[in-house]
Amino acid sequence: MRLLATLVLWSIATLPAIARNAGRASDDDAAIREVVRKYVDAREKRDPNLLAALFTEDADQITTSGEWRRGRDNVVRGGLASSQSNPGARQIAIEAVRFPAPGVAIADGRYEIRGAQAGDQRRMWTTFLLMRGGSGEWRVAAIRNMVPTGSLPASQEPAAQSGALDYEYFKTKVQPIFLAKRAGHARCIACHGSGTPLRLQALAPGATTWNDEDARKNFEAVRRVVVPGSVTKSRLLVHPLTEEAGGDFYHSGGKHWSSQNDDEWRTLKAWVLGQTTK
Ligand code: HEC
Repeated sequence: MRLLATLVLWSIATLPAIARNAGRASDDDAAIREVVRKYVDAREKRDPNLLAALFTEDADQITTSGEWRRGRDNVVRGGLASSQSNPGARQIAIEAVRFPAPGVAIADGRYEIRGAQAGDQRRMWTTFLLMRGGSGEWRVAAIRNMVPTGSLPASQEPAAQSGALDYEYFKTKVQPIFLAKRAGHARCIACHGSGTPLRLQALAPGATTWNDEDARKNFEAVRRVVVPGSVTKSRLLVHPLTEEAGGDFYHSGGKHWSSQNDDEWRTLKAWVLGQTTK
C-alpha cells in the first residue's frame, strides 16, 4: 500500500516535470527558428540595429568567400556590406536544431541566395550556434556558411532536395488541408495565417483559396518544415500527428490526425515523398 502511494506521488510529482521539459525543448526550438527568421529579415531590411540585437558581443561569422568576421560589430558591418554587393533574396530553411548542452543550440539549414537574374542562385549550408542569455533569450554566437564542393552524394545536395517537392501538387492537394475544418480543432489557417513560426498567407476577405502568388509564398513557407523524402524529419507530418501514431510530443495547435492512414495525412506524406500531379 505504501509502495502504491509512493508511486502515485512520484508520478504526480514527476510527470508534469517531464512534460514541462519536453514543452520547453519545443519552445526553444521555435524560439531558435524565430531568431534565424529575424536574422534573414534584418538582412533584408538592412537594419544594423535589428541585426546587432540578435548577436552576442563576441559573435563571429565565417563566410563562403573566406572572410572571418570577428565580434558583433564586424558581423553586422560585413553582413550589410554583402547585402549591398549581393542584393539577391536570401532564404534560410532550418532543417535541424540540437541542444548539445543546456543553453547551447546548433541550428543547421539550407541557405539560398537568389539573384536578380533567373538561374542566378547560390545554394549552400549554414550552421548557427546560439546561446541562451540570462533573461532566457537566444542569441547567435557564431555562423558558418558552407558551399558543397559538388562531390556530395546526390541525396545530400540541397538542390536535389528542394527540387523534390511538387508545386502543383502542393497547390491543389496540400493547401486545401490547411483550410479544412476538423472536429474539435481550429483550421490550420486560423493560427498559421499570423504569429506562428510557420506563416501562411492570410486569405483575402471572402476568398475560399489562395491566388497563385500567395500559393507560391505558402509553398516556400511550408517547404521549411519539410525534409523531402523523410517522414520522420518533416515537421509538417509529425507535428499535427498524435504521438501514438508516430507523431512528436507536442504541437500547440493540437493533434489533428491520430492515424497514418488518415487520407489528409497521407496526402501530406505523398507530397513530402515527391508525389506530383502528373
Ligand atoms: C490553435 C492554433 C493552431 C492550429 C489550429 C494549428 N497550429 Fe500548427 N502551430 C501553432 C503554434 C502556436 C505553433 C508553434 C509552437 C509549436 O511548435 O507547437 C505551431 C507549429 C506548427 C508547426 C511547426 C512549425 C515550425 O516552424 O517548426 C507545424 C508544421 C504546424 N504547426 C502545422 C500545423 C498544421 C498542418 C495544422 C493544421 C492541420 C496546424 N498546425 C494547426 C498553432 C496552431
